[in-house]
Amino acid sequence: MACPSDWPEPIVRVQSLSEKCGGGGRIPERYVKPVESRPWLSEEGEEANIPVIDLAEEGEIGGRVAEACREWGFLQVVNHGVRPELMEAAQEVWRRFFQQPMEVKQAYANSPTTYEGYGSRLGVEKGAILDWSDYYFLHYLPCNLRDVNKWPSLPISLREVMDEYSREIVRLGGVLLKMLSISLGLSQDFLQNSFGGEDVGACLRVNYYPKCPQPDLTLGLSSHSDPGGMTFLLPDQNVPGLQVRRGDRWITVKPAPHAFIVNIGDQIQVLSNAIYNSVEHRVIVNSAQERISLAYFYNPKSDLLIQPAKELLAPDRPALYPAMTFDEYRLFIRTKGPKGKSQLGKS
Ligand code: OGA
Ligand code: NI
Repeated sequence: MACPSDWPEPIVRVQSLSEKCGGGGRIPERYVKPVESRPWLSEEGEEANIPVIDLAEEGEIGGRVAEACREWGFLQVVNHGVRPELMEAAQEVWRRFFQQPMEVKQAYANSPTTYEGYGSRLGVEKGAILDWSDYYFLHYLPCNLRDVNKWPSLPISLREVMDEYSREIVRLGGVLLKMLSISLGLSQDFLQNSFGGEDVGACLRVNYYPKCPQPDLTLGLSSHSDPGGMTFLLPDQNVPGLQVRRGDRWITVKPAPHAFIVNIGDQIQVLSNAIYNSVEHRVIVNSAQERISLAYFYNPKSDLLIQPAKELLAPDRPALYPAMTFDEYRLFIRTKGPKGKSQLGKS
């Protein structure tokens, strides 16, 4: 299985569609989801929310981290040490990027070979139903994949802001991997070592969800689990949209101020032999406001074999997954697009 080098159909920017709709009208058929995957947009406030973990808290947080990972696959971290101004600046530079004229953004148009740059679809299946979003995808680590020319040159502060932001995410990734290792009863460096030590991967997807005149018919991002190790999401502070699966319900996340939403990816599900699960999530859109989120994926070194930790196996808990490199694994999602959790043998 290899990725084709170009898209199967001409790329249409969802931002342009949204601007053409001018707040009214109908969305093209390509974005209309089958009835069973459409969002159920109710006005009722959902009571549940994903657990908040305060990293500055003294004492034992391991138990609550373990519970959040087991029960939700998601948590939000506060007092994580990343400056609030830096988080705001990161949102702001990308907002300004997407506000630029289309010709400026088109210079960074991406292809399915690496996905780096400005994109409007995931997956290369001809005739697929598409999501109501554009995005920008970039590699930060490993260093040899970081290409400064692929980072937007405007707004002028983008590269500098994102450089500091990226360093902070990598630092936080180390902190969280330690917490997760301990909470699984493993040595504190276990997950970091399994990810390749210093040689982890880190890549960013900035999601841009334009206003949608028919938000009940489509999704900003279809249901999926994240294929990598762990994700640090900086949600839009003003516009909700992320929904997390809980049984057969979808819970809309209410982010705490300046929190990062952290979720378990498929590689930690494999390493933990499903003690922790990567949980499906999706994004709904709305007709009143656009939404921007920064999803930073913290991943194992891509050519290392990832397999269930021997320490977590027992006669009644055999390994549930074969060993596979992350390179092999992510070809699936890059070819098929977001499809629930079908890549881990569930659908
Ligand atoms: C993702 C993702 C959620 C969001 O990019 O993988 O799940 O709120 N994003 O944009
Ligand atoms: Ni995701």
